[in-house]
Amino acid sequence: MNANEIKQRADFDRAHIWHPAAQMKDYESFPPVEVAKAKGCILYTQDNREIIDIVSSWWCNLLGHCNDEISSSVSKQLFELEHVIFANFTHPGAIELVEKLLKIVPKGIEHFNFADNGSSSVEMALKIAFQYQHQIGQTKRVRFACLDEDYHGETIGALSVGAMDLYSKIYKPMMMDNIHIPVPDMYRNTDVESTLQKARKLFEKHGHELCALIVEPILQGAAGMRIYPKEYLKGLYDLCREYGVLFIADEIATGFFRTGKMFACDHAEITPDIMCLSKAITGGYMPMSVVCTTHEVYKAFYADYSQMKAFVHSHTYAGNPLACAAANAVLDILNEGSVVSQASENAKWLSEEFERRFASHENIGQHRHIGLINAIEIVKDRDTKESFDSNLRLGYTIYQDAMKNGLLLRPIGDILYFNPPLNIDRDTLTKSLDIAQEVIFSNIEKIK
Ligand SMILES: Cc1ncc(COP(=O)(O)O)c(C=O)c1O
Repeated sequence: MNANEIKQRADFDRAHIWHPAAQMKDYESFPPVEVAKAKGCILYTQDNREIIDIVSSWWCNLLGHCNDEISSSVSKQLFELEHVIFANFTHPGAIELVEKLLKIVPKGIEHFNFADNGSSSVEMALKIAFQYQHQIGQTKRVRFACLDEDYHGETIGALSVGAMDLYSKIYKPMMMDNIHIPVPDMYRNTDVESTLQKARKLFEKHGHELCALIVEPILQGAAGMRIYPKEYLKGLYDLCREYGVLFIADEIATGFFRTGKMFACDHAEITPDIMCLSKAITGGYMPMSVVCTTHEVYKAFYADYSQMKAFVHSHTYAGNPLACAAANAVLDILNEGSVVSQASENAKWLSEEFERRFASHENIGQHRHIGLINAIEIVKDRDTKESFDSNLRLGYTIYQDAMKNGLLLRPIGDILYFNPPLNIDRDTLTKSLDIAQEVIFSNIEKIK
């Protein structure tokens, strides 16, 4: 395709397609890049450029683009059963997937309810928690608690239990009024014990009216890959137990070895009452989410129809067979083990490389990492931890420059991160590090 055709298509796209999480005016100077195909970590554009997808396309692409095993599982499924209503019907792919999930979820999780994206699974989890409390007679429990800086998606319920103004401020009048629990900030040195004491105080005051606490376990992704200690997660879990509050773990971004273990809750050895899975579950092939619950939760809904205890909630694409086929292939690959060991070896090496290349620079405030996820926070002043003026849009400028140089380095404010597929190779990591280092440092110099 020649340059003129590509430009015309970009102009058409910009005129009619409203892209996610964007000020569309920015697309005037930075038009959408048209991707023709992809393989492994590489996106191939219509103008024959290669871009390394180091953020796994919003963290869902767990095992590389167009992975042969996942592609053949989905393509085989395409000619057997593309979709079937999931009410009163089931199919082999769903049964096989749940058999596999049962073997890997925290012990005690036994029931699986399908939806089709992360936010929908959060909505479902909140509704299940609310209805559960109602049906066991706890009718005064009508509020939720969530963590400061948490992100759970963009639908109204999910926004309500999120804590980031960027996404939710304007919608406040539409949102539920929830209790916000503080989280230790390991960069700005908030003490874990005293933060837990603050959480305890909030439970003392509000515990009786809470149906559930929802958390991003250990990793607060959208807040800038913030990582808090497993002891804090366990402390919150214990508070929930003490006050009869359900514990919802949103493992949408953390599930399937993103934090080095199958699930982030595994670090703290806890079994949530309700757990949300999505993103990586299909390797980024198909939209799918699963809300998993213990039998204790499930049984509160199980009764004669006339008692009106059923969970009357549905999504058209629930249990979609193509998504199940993708997920089954993903779990087979993880189960085989070699990709997981490759990821854990590379995780150690990658964090050392980040430390070596970035950590001592005077404008890198913190390097944080878990699993293969590595993030660096750029600051104006390392001593005071003051950020650069957000109007300078440093992270966004770095993103544009990185893209021109062949790396998809999508920022969160002035935080840049890698969250690559588990099977990325070292050469691609090295190339990504080289590009990142060059564009980050040169753009910092430009604004100083
Ligand atoms: C922790 C977490 N929860 C929920 C969501 C929302 O998922 P979706 O974008 O599929 O609605 C995300 C998406 O980034 C997430 O990271």
